[in-house]
Amino acid sequence: MDKHDLLTVGAVAQRSGFAASALRYYEAQGLIFADRNAGGQRRFERSVLRRLAFIRAAANVGLTLEEIRTELDMLPGGRTPTKADWQRITSHWRGRLDEQIAALEKLRDGLDSCIGCGCLSLQRCSISNPDDRAGNGSEAEPGAAFLPRLLRRPQVPR
Ligand code: FES
Repeated sequence: MDKHDLLTVGAVAQRSGFAASALRYYEAQGLIFADRNAGGQRRFERSVLRRLAFIRAAANVGLTLEEIRTELDMLPGGRTPTKADWQRITSHWRGRLDEQIAALEKLRDGLDSCIGCGCLSLQRCSISNPDDRAGNGSEAEPGAAFLPRLLRRPQVPR
């Protein structure tokens, strides 16, 4: 590959919209790959931009970093997702979005009983403590324990 086809971390950050720190993090996590030039500076192939677009789209749908890694790892030879890959992978994202919408609707419906109240009681407030999560031991799970499970995934760095 011609070295002029390679992108610096700054160029990738500018063109992808990700912070340089996020790019370094993704590289350390094995989601994107860079070579080093003679001076030890990162150089990315242009295909990294499509890979980053995939990461952003997946994060917007609510996938965790681990789930994004799993999707990317399933691609042969670590290639960048093609149009066919995209259609296959996103076919099961719709169901996931439906689940998240249902969880948000449930949260919204619980809000109706809170309007004008403000007690935030763990005993009776369905927004403060939905499904009595405070009482069922679910606080061992990651994220804000009192949010519905589908709404408390860790955020992906951007
Ligand atoms: S704030 Fe009182 S029930 Fe939710």
